[in-house]
Amino acid sequence: MLHATMLPPMRKRQRRTEGTEGPRYGVEVKFPDVRLYLVEKKMGATRRGFLAQLARAKGFLVEDVLSERVTHVVSEQNQAQELWQWLRRQALNNLPTLHVLDIGWFTDSMREGRPVTLEARHHIQDILPEASTHLPVVVLSRYACQRRTSTENHNEIFTEILQCGRSFEVEKILCNDRYQRLKLFTSVFGVGPKTAEKWHRGGLRTLNDALEDPGVELNSMQKAGFRHHGDISRAVSRAEALALGEILHQAALGISAHAVLVLTGGFRRGKEFGHDVDFLLSTPEQGKEETLLLSLVDSLRRQGILLYCDHHPSTFDINNLPGVSFEAMDHFAKSFLILRLEDRQVEGGVQRPEGQHDGRSWRAVRVDVVAPPMERYAFTLLGWTGSRQFERDLRRFARKEKRMLLDNHGLWDKTKKEFLPAEREEDIFAHLGLEYLEPQLRNA
Ligand code: CTP
Ligand code: MN
Ligand code: MN
Repeated sequence: MLHATMLPPMRKRQRRTEGTEGPRYGVEVKFPDVRLYLVEKKMGATRRGFLAQLARAKGFLVEDVLSERVTHVVSEQNQAQELWQWLRRQALNNLPTLHVLDIGWFTDSMREGRPVTLEARHHIQDILPEASTHLPVVVLSRYACQRRTSTENHNEIFTEILQCGRSFEVEKILCNDRYQRLKLFTSVFGVGPKTAEKWHRGGLRTLNDALEDPGVELNSMQKAGFRHHGDISRAVSRAEALALGEILHQAALGISAHAVLVLTGGFRRGKEFGHDVDFLLSTPEQGKEETLLLSLVDSLRRQGILLYCDHHPSTFDINNLPGVSFEAMDHFAKSFLILRLEDRQVEGGVQRPEGQHDGRSWRAVRVDVVAPPMERYAFTLLGWTGSRQFERDLRRFARKEKRMLLDNHGLWDKTKKEFLPAEREEDIFAHLGLEYLEPQLRNA
């Protein structure tokens, strides 16, 4: 619900002249035909002020108050319906010609230093529930799980925004220095946003600073992260992912003839490069999946290719489902690994920095392996195939439109108060009343 107190007070609309805030500090107005208004709701006053300042510095006109002079309304994370209801209450005569846009348009425009061309994905559609039958047939679905998103229309910038949380991209433009540091520090495997922030606040500026500072105590994960930093910050190719698949498959079959190993994550969605390689490991032998994973890791160690392993034992308990926080990490046994991949194991050799050869015949690669019990296989496969945005939308769709809770463990029907079984991903889509989407079309 929109709370009246959070909206700009109506009386402010009278004070139009005060509301106009052009570029400051002698920056010329570069785009006189574009007048922005940033919706404070969800964005918050501080951030709104911040973004307005940024836009003005780049020669944009930003109005503090919503009036009929505004041409572009920019909103962040607001529900289309609520936003439009509020806009209609403002009784603006220019509402039909007003561009109501997602923050993504703003972000792109700030990066380009000019108002970028409006595309369908930028518009926040007015969805009138009572008028839905009169809507044109082509309305961009609100949920990625109802759209077909291949790797071609993959938008790098949006993905970045989504992976780093709320509009990190904008902060990048704003606080270039801080952003660059945090990005640098978190690029080390084992260094999360909290540690990165701490290092930044402590005045550390380079990775060497972190290595040499006597006050910094690295845990074993971070030590491995630093040791292999160059290798694991380099993209993993599809050929490398397939080579690792072969190595893990052989190792798994060496342990159990029933072992099932499936490539998931970005590579299953058809991506050519990834930051790691994700696998799902299981077995029809009930309750044996975690032992299988541990044996697999052991086998890799004996082969001398295990450079690092962070194992998370299973905390899965069927009696605790559905969990309270359905969005959290799954409870299955999983291992976050760093593996050694040899040139000779990969078609064309391993990825190296452009034009360089350091004399090594191998590189380090990050590998994730999750081991769910077989009856949870379809849910985990769906969850680990991603993309993150696709999963988020699928879960939101299940909750809001179907009164169902979906996660990597299962699908709970709140109306029927029961779990819906699934052997394959297709079964899950069917339960949700959605057309099945191949992994290649889940690149939202
Ligand atoms: N995932 C998950 N639980 C985890 C880790 C990952 O459910 N503990 C899911 C993520 O939601 C994501 C998928 O597994 O959808 C793959 O994660 P990740 O490797 O981070 O992303 P990719 O899409 O594979 O991207 P990249 O190619 O950069 O690795
Ligand atoms: Mn991945
Ligand atoms: Mn991963």
